[in-house]
Amino acid sequence: MEKKITVIKGDGIGPEIVDEAIKVLNVIAEKYKHTFHYSEVLMGGASIDVHGVPLTNEAIDIAKNSDAVLLGSIGGDTTTSPWYQLDPTLRPEAGLLRIRKELNLFANLRPAYLYDELKGACPLKEEITEGGFDMMIMRELTGGLYFGKRETKTVNGELIAHDNLEYSEGEIRRIAKRGFDIAMKRRKKVTSVDKANVLDSSRLWRKVVNDVAKDYPEVTLEHMLVDNCAMQLVRDPKQFDVILTENMFGDILSDEASMVTGSIGMLSSASLRDDSFGMYEPSHGSAPDIAGKDIANPIATILSAAMMLRYSFDMDEEASAVEKAIEQVLEEGYRTIDIMSDGKKQVTCSKMGDLIVEKI
Ligand code: IPM
Ligand code: MG
Repeated sequence: MEKKITVIKGDGIGPEIVDEAIKVLNVIAEKYKHTFHYSEVLMGGASIDVHGVPLTNEAIDIAKNSDAVLLGSIGGDTTTSPWYQLDPTLRPEAGLLRIRKELNLFANLRPAYLYDELKGACPLKEEITEGGFDMMIMRELTGGLYFGKRETKTVNGELIAHDNLEYSEGEIRRIAKRGFDIAMKRRKKVTSVDKANVLDSSRLWRKVVNDVAKDYPEVTLEHMLVDNCAMQLVRDPKQFDVILTENMFGDILSDEASMVTGSIGMLSSASLRDDSFGMYEPSHGSAPDIAGKDIANPIATILSAAMMLRYSFDMDEEASAVEKAIEQVLEEGYRTIDIMSDGKKQVTCSKMGDLIVEKI
């Protein structure tokens, strides 16, 4: 097959980790006789430095004309980087929000699971993690507080700011359907997370999710308030299969979920719309403190590339080959510094990429 991939390396460790994912994609192309065409565009701080804006219209057009986007990470140190002296609409994150919206990537999938090999890094007590856990956070990505009207104004000599949280039935329905579809391929349980004891938007969320659930009689649906969910994630993460939630709650809960796995450098993510197009990026951030040192963990990005093969290109066998290669490398004891433990072999970012390529 022939596929066009837009590559956005981004900021911080982005370029290093994306380079390793491309190495892996190239060996997959060679082995399975595919052709991947890459177009590199800038986003975030890297784009601000060159174009003065975090994302150009040309970059969006290139992304729109491709089959998928592979993204590293964007953003810098918010206290020291000059990017954060700019107006909020010109900062690195604005590029990310804009590309999500322009490409209509409303469904964000963030898997969080306990790697058997990396159990030692999990911060939870063994009695809680016994038997492992494996959940998929489905986060709505193009609505809610992130895209509502916002304003800061002076009223009676005092500054007032507001951010609007709005959801339409249609926006809730399409993400809910996605969540149930995914649950059907997993353990058939959906936990819909909201704050329906306070928010109107959450009450509508709950109503629409209940409605969608009627089409999925095999799936068990439960509703959970977001504060309780935050607690349950550390109390008993095993109970979760698919967590379905709105944009802001999903942002917060997905960081929490990734931390309880103990290996945030291992977690991938996909942002999808209704067709096969998608944007794939690691769940972690740009880690500016370790950028350029060749010590970052490229596995989350390589796993994101595997998700791209599976979800956007329908290349299941190829995706499995990547995932299996990663497992083998871990089994043989190779670790980047973030997941290093006694008796294991510490390797650099690029060496980790090479090892995975060798296994494939
Ligand atoms: C994420 C990030 C972004 C978000 C930031 C960088 C705008 O935290 O992808 O979770 O809040 O969505
Ligand atoms: Mg986040």
